[in-house]
Amino acid sequence: MSRLAVIGGSGFAAMPGLQVLDHQQPDTPYGPASAPVTRGLLGGAELFFLPRHGTGHSMPPHRIHYRANLWALKACGAERVVGLAAVGGIGGAFGPRVLAVPDQIIDYTYGRAHSFSDGDQGEVLHIDFTRPYCEDLRQALLRAARDSDLAVEDGGTYGATQGPRLETAAEIMRLERDGCDLVGMTGMPEAALARELGLCYACFAFVVNWAAGKASGEIRMEEIETNVAACSARIERILTALTGAD
Ligand code: HPA
Repeated sequence: MSRLAVIGGSGFAAMPGLQVLDHQQPDTPYGPASAPVTRGLLGGAELFFLPRHGTGHSMPPHRIHYRANLWALKACGAERVVGLAAVGGIGGAFGPRVLAVPDQIIDYTYGRAHSFSDGDQGEVLHIDFTRPYCEDLRQALLRAARDSDLAVEDGGTYGATQGPRLETAAEIMRLERDGCDLVGMTGMPEAALARELGLCYACFAFVVNWAAGKASGEIRMEEIETNVAACSARIERILTALTGAD
């Protein structure tokens, strides 16, 4: 059984349904993680949980301690990591409230500490990133959704933007031309850092708004919050099925 961790994003400062056992705060060479790592039981199985933005959603996407977060999860013993991600939908199948397990990434972020291989530790590591997500964990998530009788989109390209502002309509048109289906602010460098550490990482995305210019009017925070709430119970069921499947 390989030990599972969940990194919670917007709307998931705590893991619903988790019976908390303890909190751990391992030292990392990159400072503290966003928050202590919670160890708990979900549906009777062990799970680590870390809120990406900190306990009070206080860290914007470009200031998250991505390296410390992945390092801390590995230090706690996690081998598989699900990155929960609230995203905007760009393409037809990816409207609000859709759940998705993307299979590709385009990285538009800049200025983030995006590698453990920064030249200070000797050999520079050039990881293979052809398939940025761990296919075993992607398939396990899709199986857990099927077992729960819940619909999840299999595949799609996640465009990682810098934030914290939302995009312009022209930026979203560019992402669409590039082949992006989903847009979010935290998918990178998280996925690449996980690969550098040898962690099996997959993204579990939930669409909380149409991306800029894809619906009439502005993107409203109330709409995002309502859609987060509408996804939460399905996400909990699928993650419970996933932890129980080992
Ligand atoms: N763009 C970027 N990140 C997001 C969005 C969006 O439209 N919605 C939720 N996270």
